[in-house]
Amino acid sequence: MTAPSQTAPDRRHAPPEFPAGFRWGAATAAFQVEGALDADGRTPSVWDTFTAVPGRVDNGDRADLAVDHYRRYRDDVALMAQLGLNTYRFSVSWPRVQPDGRGAANVKGLDFYSRLVDELLANGIEPMLTLYHWDHPQVLQDAGGWANRDMTERFADYAALVAARLGDRVPLWVTLNEPWCTAFLGHASGIHAPGVADDATTLTVAHHLNLAHGLGVQALRAALPGTAQVSIALNPAPVRTPVDTQENQDAVRRADALRNRIFLDPLLRGQYPADLIADTAHITDWGFVRDGDLATATSPIDVLGVNYYTPLYVAAGPGPADPYNRWVGSDGLVHIAPADGPSTIHGVVDAAALRELLNRIRHDYGPVPIVIAENGVASPDTVGPDGRVDDAGRVAYLHAHLAALHDAITDGVDVRGYVMWSLIDNFEWVYGYSQRFGLIHVDRDTQRRTVKDSGHWFRQVIAANAIPPLDPPAAG
Ligand code: NOJ
Repeated sequence: MTAPSQTAPDRRHAPPEFPAGFRWGAATAAFQVEGALDADGRTPSVWDTFTAVPGRVDNGDRADLAVDHYRRYRDDVALMAQLGLNTYRFSVSWPRVQPDGRGAANVKGLDFYSRLVDELLANGIEPMLTLYHWDHPQVLQDAGGWANRDMTERFADYAALVAARLGDRVPLWVTLNEPWCTAFLGHASGIHAPGVADDATTLTVAHHLNLAHGLGVQALRAALPGTAQVSIALNPAPVRTPVDTQENQDAVRRADALRNRIFLDPLLRGQYPADLIADTAHITDWGFVRDGDLATATSPIDVLGVNYYTPLYVAAGPGPADPYNRWVGSDGLVHIAPADGPSTIHGVVDAAALRELLNRIRHDYGPVPIVIAENGVASPDTVGPDGRVDDAGRVAYLHAHLAALHDAITDGVDVRGYVMWSLIDNFEWVYGYSQRFGLIHVDRDTQRRTVKDSGHWFRQVIAANAIPPLDPPAAG
């Protein structure tokens, strides 16, 4: 081994740096933050209907006010600027901008997003716009929702209408957020809106989402300037099994098809996995896939959004019904919780699995550019007597996941950005307000915002474009 030269800089203790131009952001979604559900011509979404049913959301929480972002967006953008974010990922509420789900735009609804975009740009923050974060107009659900193929055309029309108004100012567009949740949580176990529980419908919906994405990409390309980038945010997960038997390996294969490849393959290969079609042949003949659909679904994207929270653990064999993991067509498959390690509402905390996942995508699908479009953790944060929100657990979580992300980049994965979930505490779907994911704390009685310690720490990350040590962050 050669001794290091006397004059070479000692990089051993230098914080790991990210590539130049790396996007640092935080995310929200319309239904989770906006409130103002009746304002300016908005009609009910499928989530308004779902959350109105007693027993569906913890504590009976409703999103009527959420965190009042519709009215407080200027203050929230000021907080983003304080954090030093260079990217803000938000979603557009479809029933706000196209209340009837078809036809003309509601100008007042679009005006809100136009003001938000202008405010972001004035603060040097790039808007990253998600078109569909689960809240389509109820009127479209009344016509069958995603089970109805017509919904794919409706989505493309809606995409065109938003692009026509905001395309001059938004550089990064995301078609769908986590279509797995829409298909499987919304239509297999029914614990998300629209609350359907039917296996064949789930697969139909999954295909219609893949098709809608492709039609959406085409509509966006037709309306956007050539410089705009188009993406989709999937939530793939590494799938593991505790004991490496042949039966368990088969369980892994099935789970991987249902969670990951059912979306990644049509998107990046223009086909459905043959094993998925075989595994589900007793449920459907996949006749809903028509000629040309897969060519549409694989319309080129510029960047793949990856939302990562936790790996999956599965095994062969019967198990208790698990609403978060309903294995359509694969009844002999059970999701298991690993025995130890910290865990969250999403499952075990495992930063190394992020590196594994990104390498797997590169290995199986080629060098597609990636943005981490969500990653984060909930914790029961409170404002202390000193006015601080001490969320050291979230800081440690961020530190570990950024280190894993940096490792993946060093491995050769083309990662362009990291967007944290979430900017601000908000309405966490069926958990209501019980789960706080924000870098910014919200007092539920006063709506007062307080930047958490993790927010101050993240500001240091962004300023350095590198991972600082885990020292206590300086408030300010
Ligand atoms: C997934 C979803 O996209 C987002 O809406 C949700 O709040 C977070 N992950 C946390 O569960």
